[in-house]
Amino acid sequence: MNLTIDNLDFHQLVENSLNSILIVCEDQTIRYCNKAGLRLLNLTSLDQILNKKISQFLPPDLHDMCNEGLTRVIEKQEIIKEMDIKIIKNHGEFADVEIMTIPFYFENKVLAQVIIQDITKRKIAEKRLKDREKLASLGQLAAGIVHEVKNPLTAVKGFLQLIKESQNHPYLDTMESELEKALQTLQNLLQVSKPDLQDEPLILIDLCKELNSILLLFQEKLYSVEVEMDLRDSDKRFYGKKNLLLKSFFNLIKNAIEAIMADGKIKIEHYYHEGWIHIKVSDTGQGIPEEKLVILGTPFYSSKPDGTGLGLTQVYTTVHEHGGNISVQSVVGKGTTFHIQLPIKIN
Ligand SMILES: Nc1ncnc2c1ncn2[C@@H]1O[C@H](COP(=O)(O)OP(=O)(O)OP(=O)(O)O)[C@@H](O)[C@H]1O
Ligand SMILES: [Mg+2]
Repeated sequence: MNLTIDNLDFHQLVENSLNSILIVCEDQTIRYCNKAGLRLLNLTSLDQILNKKISQFLPPDLHDMCNEGLTRVIEKQEIIKEMDIKIIKNHGEFADVEIMTIPFYFENKVLAQVIIQDITKRKIAEKRLKDREKLASLGQLAAGIVHEVKNPLTAVKGFLQLIKESQNHPYLDTMESELEKALQTLQNLLQVSKPDLQDEPLILIDLCKELNSILLLFQEKLYSVEVEMDLRDSDKRFYGKKNLLLKSFFNLIKNAIEAIMADGKIKIEHYYHEGWIHIKVSDTGQGIPEEKLVILGTPFYSSKPDGTGLGLTQVYTTVHEHGGNISVQSVVGKGTTFHIQLPIKIN
């Protein structure tokens, strides 16, 4: 093959480019559109775009800007670099794009070449990141407030006990138990948002044995849910914080059971591979929509009417504290798998 600048088929290069390319005249009509352009705009034939005004594919608030931009490019031969705008597709749907407009010289005339890149996916990813950051800072704020609220409540509890000693009243017991509940909620919140507060010692744990015993806690909920245990390499021991890990597995199994509306199945796997212990908790439940996957583990995200949204936060912080990784795969209507990897040696 002898590909040179002279025998390169430029038409094919432009026609099959992954970026959409349009050529626009000074009267704003579109004179050329490549295949990517048709795909981007959901068009099936060139008749739908050729000799049409470019403004037809732009929201009304961008028409003036488009006019002015084309004048700059065609009359002053300027280059307009990377502008993020919205375009209107064939069926009226909007798409986020980045456009660049440069002069295009043709038979002694100057036209405008518009190069368009679809950035819908990038925009969605940016939005998710922002949402996640927002929620994470909300979690930190909550942890700070918990600290402040816990101290006065603990003081009230102390005084309540003193009052009870001198004169008992039936309301005092209720007050004390309600206060205890509030303090417990605050403690839970603090634990999940600040894992470093726990000074639990590291011990060798038989994870297979623990997974079996946690399942017993759900006995009464398991009448309509089938459970499959596939626990391999059970001789491996993991050096970690037992209570934190047990709580994590509890939270994952609880979520799996809650995700199953009627009948369904849960599978719990344990195996060892190249220095890592793998634990998978899968369910055939309702699944998690793609846009929600990225915010899992963020404090307070819950789709359940009585959920705290702290279960997965506890799971994620515990796994990370042990030097592990966690990933989720989910298909709406089919089910979800949480995959945890824990390094067998912690440095
Ligand atoms: N296995 C799963 N299947 C489907 N959705 C899940 C699963 N696990 C978690 N989720 C989603 O993630 C959200 C957050 O879970 P998380 O455990 O943090 O809180 P919660 O379960 O809502 O409340 P809590 O754990 O306090 O009862 C859930 O509300 C649910 O929407
Ligand atoms: Mg939960």
